[in-house]
Amino acid sequence: MANIYTKHLRWENILVDVYEKQAENRDQFTSEEVETLIEVGALLSSDLRVEELVEILMEQAALLVGAETGLLWLAGEQRQMTPMASYGLDGDAVGLLLKQFASNIDSVTVRGKPIVVTTGSREGSGLLENVGYALNYTVSSMVLLPLVSKGSRLGCLQLINKPDGSQFGNRDLRLCATFASQVAVIIDNRILFDKQEKLMISLIRALSSALDARDPYTKGHSERVSQLALLIAEKIEMEQEQQELLQQAALLHDVGKIGIRDSVLLDTGPLDEEKWQIMKSHPVIGAQIIQQIQPKSVMEKIYDGVMYHQEKYDGSGYPCGLRGKEIPLVARIIAIADAFDAITSDRPYRKGKSPREALEEIRKCAGKHFDPQLAEVFLAIMSR
Ligand SMILES: [Fe+2]
Repeated sequence: MANIYTKHLRWENILVDVYEKQAENRDQFTSEEVETLIEVGALLSSDLRVEELVEILMEQAALLVGAETGLLWLAGEQRQMTPMASYGLDGDAVGLLLKQFASNIDSVTVRGKPIVVTTGSREGSGLLENVGYALNYTVSSMVLLPLVSKGSRLGCLQLINKPDGSQFGNRDLRLCATFASQVAVIIDNRILFDKQEKLMISLIRALSSALDARDPYTKGHSERVSQLALLIAEKIEMEQEQQELLQQAALLHDVGKIGIRDSVLLDTGPLDEEKWQIMKSHPVIGAQIIQQIQPKSVMEKIYDGVMYHQEKYDGSGYPCGLRGKEIPLVARIIAIADAFDAITSDRPYRKGKSPREALEEIRKCAGKHFDPQLAEVFLAIMSR
């Protein structure tokens, strides 16, 4: 998902901080090194997942100081250290290092200071021998950089051997430490962002199941609509970020029914005119609920799905009577998924129709109720 919370979290302040730290050391680094540091800093606002980020950061770290191989370790839920990305190592070597080296990595992160391990000291020699044994080649030098952000231990960056056989020195250490401070902030922000996203999605699911629980006849409706809507989105190759927003919009499309009184919502017969008018207010009530949720930039697409999913392509829908492409794409997609699930579901006053009959109805209403191109896409998907 794109970095839709960027402004909300004020990450730009963190960026300034990182660049100021770089500036302190700028005269000691080459322009290429500073450039790499700045490029890596830009990853702060990337929309990559943690798994993708650590791969890039690992490679950049190794290239920056000219390390032959390396590992990026992150602390798991139970604080255990796990290699999340490697450079120049195969899976077996990573497995052996995990087995033999995780506790050393843990103690480095506890101490919180970057260290260079060389063959010069007895303790260092032993450590290098152990790593060399796991990798099955001679290790002459290694840098260990704890990744710490806002006082919390995130993991460790381990860089092994220079290709020319020389040892890592203080300059390498300073360069690596600057890099590691950036890496820690980037990973920490991404983890925080992922947690926020998970929280948001779980709240949306809770809200949609609260709605479904009110009416036993629509149980699971929101979830099914979101799955069907996603099939259309995938088929039309909608961007991943947009797909996620569509999914959330579909889960919440009927949220306004929370505001419809039981005597209308749970009415077991076809609705009379007065009750129908009340029922027709659910998109507007839903949109009012969605408008309360912050940040607004995130909720905009969800608002569109909730507010306009009852609009019809020929302009005969509600609440605004929008027509054609005036209806936002998310709403046009949800309308098809919503109709299919409604037609195939049992209601107290009628039995649900078969999927084949529902598809036939959608085909007949293409261009009237539904976007004809999207209806065609849906029919193609479902006929499979
Ligand atoms: Fe619905």
